[in-house]
Amino acid sequence: MNKVKIIIICLIALVVVGGLGAVIIKNINTEENQTLDSTITDEQGKEAKLNLNSDKILVIYFSETGNTQKLAKLISDKVGGDFIRIETEKVYPTDYNELVDDAKKEKENDDRPKLKTLNINLDDYDTIFIGYPIWWYQMPMAMYTLFDNYDFADKTIIPFNTHEGSGSSGTYEDIQKLEPKAKVLEGLPIRGGDMVSDQSSKVDSWLNKLGI
Ligand SMILES: Cc1cc2nc3c(=O)[nH]c(=O)nc-3n(C[C@H](O)[C@H](O)[C@H](O)COP(=O)(O)O)c2cc1C
Repeated sequence: MNKVKIIIICLIALVVVGGLGAVIIKNINTEENQTLDSTITDEQGKEAKLNLNSDKILVIYFSETGNTQKLAKLISDKVGGDFIRIETEKVYPTDYNELVDDAKKEKENDDRPKLKTLNINLDDYDTIFIGYPIWWYQMPMAMYTLFDNYDFADKTIIPFNTHEGSGSSGTYEDIQKLEPKAKVLEGLPIRGGDMVSDQSSKVDSWLNKLGI
């Protein structure tokens, strides 16, 4: 009898542990499968909706697994102006773990991955929303290339980012240091996983708080 009980308990334990394992693996796979949305493309000349007089508005973003892209599109649809993705010449690994390793190496080497030419002239804009994910507790190195290559003096920069726990990780202050002549406003950090649901209310209250 005792043996039977032990066997039944072992079988239940196997099912529970196996099930948990499957859930974890599924989650990892979900994360690996996250990708950019090809229907979200660059846009030019959306009617400006901000309370910023005739300022020319740009929303520019870097995103590899699609979360920041979604947030950028949401912001762009609310504020209008132009909308453009920052792309590197190099292609990052699509495998999540390989991407994590690659980004770590880039950070350790203080790399400046080359960017594809932007199809706009940054000089045309006064107010620039800039979005990126947190990679290894800071901006991806591609963002450092952007700030090295372009002059943001006298522009208003409004940062936003996605993350999985690090918040903004001091990156708004980093941007102000990289661009001392720009006016960097308070940014918006949103957890990447939260982008599966509508984040409009967070974006609206952030814009309201900024007075725009
Ligand atoms: C290479 C890499 C490094 C990451 N490092 C961090 C980190 O340090 N802190 C954090 O909160 N999230 C980290 N994340 C999670 C991302 O910030 C989060 O998934 C983000 O929403 C991804 O944005 P994307 O989908 O626009 O590429 C990292 C993700 C990757 C791929």
